[in-house]
Amino acid sequence: MNSPTIRDQTILVTGGAGFIGSHITDALVPHNDVRVLDDFSTGHRRNLPDEVRTIEGDIGDPIALQEAARGVDIIFHQAALVSVTQSVDDPRTSNRTNLDSTVLILEQARQEDARVVLASSAAIYGHPNELPVSERTPPDPTSPYGIQKLAIDQYARLYDELYDLPAVALRYFNVYGPRQQGPYSGVISTFLEQAQEGDPLTIDGDGEQTRDFVHVSDVVRANLLAATTDRTGEAYNIGTGESATILELAEIIREVTDSNSTIVHEPPRAGDVRHSQADISKASKQLGFEPRISLEAGIQSLGTAEPIESAVDDEVELPSIDSRG
Ligand code: NAD
Ligand code: UD1
Repeated sequence: MNSPTIRDQTILVTGGAGFIGSHITDALVPHNDVRVLDDFSTGHRRNLPDEVRTIEGDIGDPIALQEAARGVDIIFHQAALVSVTQSVDDPRTSNRTNLDSTVLILEQARQEDARVVLASSAAIYGHPNELPVSERTPPDPTSPYGIQKLAIDQYARLYDELYDLPAVALRYFNVYGPRQQGPYSGVISTFLEQAQEGDPLTIDGDGEQTRDFVHVSDVVRANLLAATTDRTGEAYNIGTGESATILELAEIIREVTDSNSTIVHEPPRAGDVRHSQADISKASKQLGFEPRISLEAGIQSLGTAEPIESAVDDEVELPSIDSRG
């Protein structure tokens, strides 16, 4: 299924200057009136297209939020403190941003009668009792971040049920792609930077932990599908259904970048999830979501700056993933 087109809507993207939010913004800007609320703590102005109205502020500030959300039809809520390690080090700060402020956003959405698509996470599954994990697998978070995402994921369902607010939670697995960067960003961007600098790739623990890596263009399409579905009040896994170990990932990155970087092992991370792999059949059946970019093709395009379009069928309409950043 091709990307649904969303037209003539007034839309707020929280965290729209960040990695995932900026790609969602790019996909919406051509046909809609798009605003971004961001405090630029990890996001960058250079990620934003000129057409966007930018409100610089904290999602926890009711005045900034009110201004940003006035008259909106849809809110894509992406702003968060995304680092699992940061949440282990400072649970109060991450709780305030990830959980308290999300409740403010849901309340604001009620006032505006706006639909909400929010970023949940595979981190809610923690140490699951089965793999791949489906939406019915009991959550068992291993970090404050996982607990916060579980709470907002459940809030989305409850707001839909209690207040008739159309809300969808997307449980992203490990997202990667252009514009992911910074000290608290994901392992693929860290390894790529290390490989390109000729520095050792730093593996936390034995490297046998697994992740389901999904390209940001697939995540953007999932957001557009979630914003147009009738099946609201639901949470959906957004991954590929495939997983790789961190050691395998390091090897792919060394190959693609033709790097001589060595591998060093650091102590394992506190709160780290051991294994992660999505069962995406619910998103496939109910949203029509199918991932299109394999891990190898996605890393190849990042490592060589080849446009990702060359890795997929010409017929397929992809959200724009050009890299301004
Ligand atoms: P990111 O750090 O690139 O983007 C987050 C954005 O939110 C940044 O622009 C940042 O400046 C902004 N922000 C942070 N705190 C804010 C605040 N208090 N007020 C206003 N703006 C604030 O991260 P990302 O990887 O693009 O993540 C986007 C969303 O997806 C997050 O909710 C994250 O938890 C979720 N998620 C990400 C992944 C992943 O692999 N990247 C996986 C699962 C879920
Ligand atoms: C990531 C996201 C989180 C999201 C979750 C969903 C980021 C920063 N975190 O968490 O927001 O909710 O996916 O599954 O995007 N690793 C190394 N060396 C490094 C960096 C990481 O070995 O230099 C390892 C980590 O120990 C971990 C794995 O790689 O086992 C993935 O780490 P990371 O990219 O930080 O993501 P998650 O913690 O899975």
